[in-house]
Amino acid sequence: METVVSGIRSTGKLHLGNYYGAIQNFVKMQNEYNCYFFIADWHSLTTHPTPADLHDNVKQVLVEYLATGIDPEKATIYVQSDVPEITELYLYLNMNAYMGELERATSFKDKVRANPDNVNAGLLTYPVLMAADILIHKATKVPVGKDQEQHLEMARTFGNRFNRLYDNEYFPEPYAFSAGKSLVKIPGLDGKGKMGKSEGEANAVYLSDSPEVIRKKVMKALTDGGPTTENQEKPDYIQNLFDLMKVVSTPDTLSHFDELYNKMQIRYGDFKKQLAEDMIITTAPMRDKIEAIAADSDYLRKVARLGADKACESAAKTIKEVREIIGFRRF
Ligand code: TRP
Repeated sequence: METVVSGIRSTGKLHLGNYYGAIQNFVKMQNEYNCYFFIADWHSLTTHPTPADLHDNVKQVLVEYLATGIDPEKATIYVQSDVPEITELYLYLNMNAYMGELERATSFKDKVRANPDNVNAGLLTYPVLMAADILIHKATKVPVGKDQEQHLEMARTFGNRFNRLYDNEYFPEPYAFSAGKSLVKIPGLDGKGKMGKSEGEANAVYLSDSPEVIRKKVMKALTDGGPTTENQEKPDYIQNLFDLMKVVSTPDTLSHFDELYNKMQIRYGDFKKQLAEDMIITTAPMRDKIEAIAADSDYLRKVARLGADKACESAAKTIKEVREIIGFRRF
């Protein structure tokens, strides 16, 4: 069975866009592949979180992924920093990662531009750590978005370079992959592209948002004076709200408001109220689970332990073989 690895950024709560995109994909994959899903807490150190924030974020991510259907009996879900073998592979890969190629990485250049006062070496070698995350389990499939394509290409480069250097076809090539045919794109509430894309809380509806917060966010979404001719094309920010309704409401509700729009009878207040209520209904079971799991320290401890054990077993096997290949041999 093919192996899948994906790292989850340990910053930020899950929003509806994550849910209908990445998570549903993960939940599907865990039935079909040997999956490793981990919380990338080492990667998050590039921005120097406080110890309390680091811990809270890791917990939040673990809780939310469990609440949305990642099953620790099917997939291996673990915290990156519980698997020290990854850092060892990171060190080996660093010896064959060149400054020039690391400096040319788009994500590195973006980060330098955004934070010129914090150009640390961890930022530069972020793609090497990511390659170690993937190669440590000899994964071939990596469910990530377009923004990670260059990092994946670097992972292939580093794996292949290792193979060539030691004349050994050890690491397979990892490629981006999605289990769903076409990923649903969930727009944000501010009419400016994908949910979670732009800064500020108002753009995204989080799974952990209370009903009051969801109502407030949706009611604030940008609308206008309404259509001025029948069957007129919807401007982006209105189409976005219809797209959101498509995922959370029934088809009847959607066509009801679509008809009102086309007949120029739509009242955006009612439309948004309905959208908010349907979002609340959709997210309520997950919000309840998030709360229950967050309060269950015994369960969280058990899950993290099980995941760490399974991930360490796979990682230790790779490191043992890699050491042998490199020439670290016992006397
Ligand atoms: N860089 C990824 C992101 O920003 C997170 C990540 C870290 C990752 N290590 C990984 C993803 C390994 C896939 C595989 O989303």
